[in-house]
Amino acid sequence: MKWKRLAVLASAAGLFFCCGRSDDRNTFADLPVAYTIQLKETVLGVQTVADSMDVPWEINWGFDQRIWTTEQGGTVSAIDPVTGIKKQLLSIPDVWRKRSTGLLGMALHPDMKSMPYVVLNYTRLQDSVPVSRLVRYEYKDDTLVNEKILLEIPGNTGHNGSRVLISKEGKVIWATGDIAKGENAQNLKSLNGKILRLNLDGSIPADNPDPGSYVYAWGFRNIQGLAFNDEGILYASEHGDVTDDEVNLIRPASNYGWPLISGKINTNQEDSISRKISIEFPLKAWTPTIAPAGIVYYNGQIPEWKHSLLLTTLKAQSLHVLKLSDDGQLILSDSIYLGSVFGRFRAICTSPNGDIYLSTSNRDWNPPNGFPLKEDDRILRIFPLTKGEIKKYRPFIVQNTQLSIERQQHPGQVIYQQYCASCHKENGKGIDGSFPALAGSQKVTGNAVDLIRLVWNGTGTEPQMPAFNFLQEDELAKVLSYIRASWGNETHDITAGAVRNAVKKK
Ligand code: HEC
Repeated sequence: MKWKRLAVLASAAGLFFCCGRSDDRNTFADLPVAYTIQLKETVLGVQTVADSMDVPWEINWGFDQRIWTTEQGGTVSAIDPVTGIKKQLLSIPDVWRKRSTGLLGMALHPDMKSMPYVVLNYTRLQDSVPVSRLVRYEYKDDTLVNEKILLEIPGNTGHNGSRVLISKEGKVIWATGDIAKGENAQNLKSLNGKILRLNLDGSIPADNPDPGSYVYAWGFRNIQGLAFNDEGILYASEHGDVTDDEVNLIRPASNYGWPLISGKINTNQEDSISRKISIEFPLKAWTPTIAPAGIVYYNGQIPEWKHSLLLTTLKAQSLHVLKLSDDGQLILSDSIYLGSVFGRFRAICTSPNGDIYLSTSNRDWNPPNGFPLKEDDRILRIFPLTKGEIKKYRPFIVQNTQLSIERQQHPGQVIYQQYCASCHKENGKGIDGSFPALAGSQKVTGNAVDLIRLVWNGTGTEPQMPAFNFLQEDELAKVLSYIRASWGNETHDITAGAVRNAVKKK
């Protein structure tokens, strides 16, 4: 008990509590474990692999087994996480840093051996006005050379974005902020508040949604994280205004709603707008806000976290594990770790063996109480402890470091979104004159057998609803339980047995 308390104290203060620090690092085992996380089965350790940095705004796992990082003041370095040796590859003299500006996003070409290109985004002043510049460098003799300007757009000290990626097919994806002018996000002529898609030479790809425009998707406020999953689905995390931080699944030629709609539909005004223009809704929205930042798709060696998005947060100072549905189209649950232990988190990447690296952001313009610590900013490594290490650290393992698991999404909600929401809408309000509202419907809250038969058989006559007799009994039970439990309906569940009885062939 006493040990456990000590461990909590030590880890809450971000102190090392084991094994003294070694200056000669040849393996990760030479580094102390600063914190532990108990999952269902796996126990994770957290180590500091780099410290005394100045806001590592982006971190990428390099083809050379080093972590490539931008620091906001204007440098690019590569760090060997095992030895801690840091090599500066580039310093950009005209970076302008104030609040949210500076050297920000970075992407390495997925095939650096034959295409040694690195794309960076930084802010500079042009006639005293901030400009956000996207550039390409070549990697040669362990430095970055031959700056080529790909694109320049207006910048700002707030809502400035931005992240960059290079896709497998070699296209540059650049997420830009609305620079605190919401109207930019809906204006297709402005390149702010957008996700842009470029060729590596800065030209517009012929297969862009509009071959005359860089715009790939629009309606964004301030994207802070971008990631592809293994299948090439693109996800983005975004800062909302006073409400509704978001994670979105990005589809080409789609409008994500800002500033007309924040998050999902919560007001009558948003509801009426959503009927007039086609808007993509977030996979998940957070109110109160958490200030989401870097995001990465994870399918590595930690079984509990497989097939999820890992999301870092600034304001909430935490790591969110967002479990995805099999097809990657939905977020099923949200678990939160590392809250308020290491301060703000900015960037995240994974190594091919499934270790996770996070960077802190405690030397930015908005440090939380008690930060920065002397060792800030740092890059942390999260990895599964071996049986031997668990034994060694057992007295220190902090039980319950998982701060909260949000209630899992209702199992029927997924089915509802797949089969019913297209007509009856996510909010259960349907469409006047076409599809009846399920919220407040007596047919939903009334006799269970009638309800089961209605949805199982559909309605043959106009207005038509298809028959859902192709669903499994338990699937129908789940979706009907969901509509009976949602939007104020508050009626008891329907079991798979009840479905079976109600639709039994005579
Ligand atoms: C293609 C559009 C469409 C889809 C998809 C659809 N419905 Fe319907 N639904 C309708 C229409 C149209 C009606 C009205 C039928 C009528 O009045 O004869 C209806 C009526 C209903 C009603 C009766 C509501 C009332 O108060 O009259 C319920 C309950 C219902 N649907 C549930 C579901 C469920 C559950 C799903 C998904 C498994 C679903 N619907 C999918 C079109 C759809």
